[in-house]
Amino acid sequence: MDISESDISRTQMVMTTIRQRIAGRSLTPGAKLPSVRALSATLKVSTSTVVDAYDRLVAEGAIYSRPGSGFYVASQAEPFSLAEAAPRRDRAIDPFWVSRQALEDAEGVIKPGCGWLPNSWMPEEGVRRALRTLARGESPALMQYGTPLGLLALRQLIARRLNERGVEAAPDRIILTDSGTQAIDMLCRLLLEPGDTVLVDDPCYFNFHALLSAHRAKVVGVPYTQTGPDIEALATILEEQRPRLYITNSAIHNPTGAALSPVIAHKVLKLAERFDLTIVEDDIFADFEHHPAPRLAAFDGLERVIEIGSFSKTLSASLRCGFIAARPEWIERLADLKIATSFGGARLDAELVLQALSDGSYRKHLDMMRARLSRAMFETAGKLRNMGVEPWLVPEAGMFLWCRLRPAWIRRKLPGCHSNTVWSWRRETCSASPSGLPNTCGSTSRKWARVASSRHCPTLWRS
Ligand SMILES: Cc1ncc(COP(=O)(O)O)c(C=O)c1O
Repeated sequence: MDISESDISRTQMVMTTIRQRIAGRSLTPGAKLPSVRALSATLKVSTSTVVDAYDRLVAEGAIYSRPGSGFYVASQAEPFSLAEAAPRRDRAIDPFWVSRQALEDAEGVIKPGCGWLPNSWMPEEGVRRALRTLARGESPALMQYGTPLGLLALRQLIARRLNERGVEAAPDRIILTDSGTQAIDMLCRLLLEPGDTVLVDDPCYFNFHALLSAHRAKVVGVPYTQTGPDIEALATILEEQRPRLYITNSAIHNPTGAALSPVIAHKVLKLAERFDLTIVEDDIFADFEHHPAPRLAAFDGLERVIEIGSFSKTLSASLRCGFIAARPEWIERLADLKIATSFGGARLDAELVLQALSDGSYRKHLDMMRARLSRAMFETAGKLRNMGVEPWLVPEAGMFLWCRLRPAWIRRKLPGCHSNTVWSWRRETCSASPSGLPNTCGSTSRKWARVASSRHCPTLWRS
């Protein structure tokens, strides 16, 4: 029988699918593979293609057959590999590669799309004062494990600050985590099973994709508008996909800077109730706001909405400290998870954050930083317009402008720099399905990129 190239590529496709399921642990050692007939129907290939692929995988030792019973995953699975868990993406839009580039501290690299403020904008003196105070203080803060929920005084302070934004959370409904990222990681551990569907905004903070891959979740994007998620699209996706979770930013959305309107908030919550959806509201940019935008957690009373935050953007990203505010029974389970995975949590960081936030200078610093960001936003939007680039939105607060730029322009301005290293963001990096979703604001000649208004890059604005 002649075997054509297309037969081989179909066989390879089936093999890759099975390998990815094994690498992503949706098929664990000893698990039974789908029957030949079922997989041929799912992948729309012939049964002989699946038989051929299974035979080759048996020859590789990845699976074995039990006569009369079917095919099973071999017991020695490779260690879980995040990079293999999802189809490989082009480097320019791979969230892992983008994060690595952004975190590399190479001197002189200009990062006009950077997700954090320059050091000179941060309250460095306040952090130094907190360090000195702690160094002189009592030893338990320096030597002992933290309590399961974390430092009470810091939870009380977070409760007061949440209250100012309308989110009522008593300190015993708050648990400290080691960062905003860890807060989401713990929630995924708490709420997800491998293979569950999770909604994210499209576009969204790209590390959500990386984190959700680590939890073997299926990620689906909800188009984001200037006032929150597109409600019609959200309703359709909920109906079709029945997701377990929706992770979103309500105030100062990353990367667009948009904020949720009260009407959209109300509609999102009605849909969440109808489809029994849990929402994680990631409020990490809250301290940049001039006036608090509506919060889902405030309207919902922390029933099906979970609020998370951290201090990386306005205090220090080096201090790893975040929090989760949620229903009491979830906080109980999160406390067990925290003990299992980190035992005491980063107590010293929590003590430092408490010192720095309680120092009256933090509020003054925030006032100055907000005013400075407003000026920078105005100026950067002006420079972009001079180049013929109209930002998608000029946000009320925050540090990002979401714009369409010509790749050729980026290459000309910053020769030798990979566009993603420089901008740290492209739409495809933060979209759930780069080629599948209608690109609401797309164009082939221009790429969406996040422009950080705080980054001074004189070469960019010269014609
Ligand atoms: C929307 C969003 N959530 C979470 C994080 C991660 O925060 P943390 O430094 O607390 O892990 C970031 C960091 O840029 C972010 O933009």
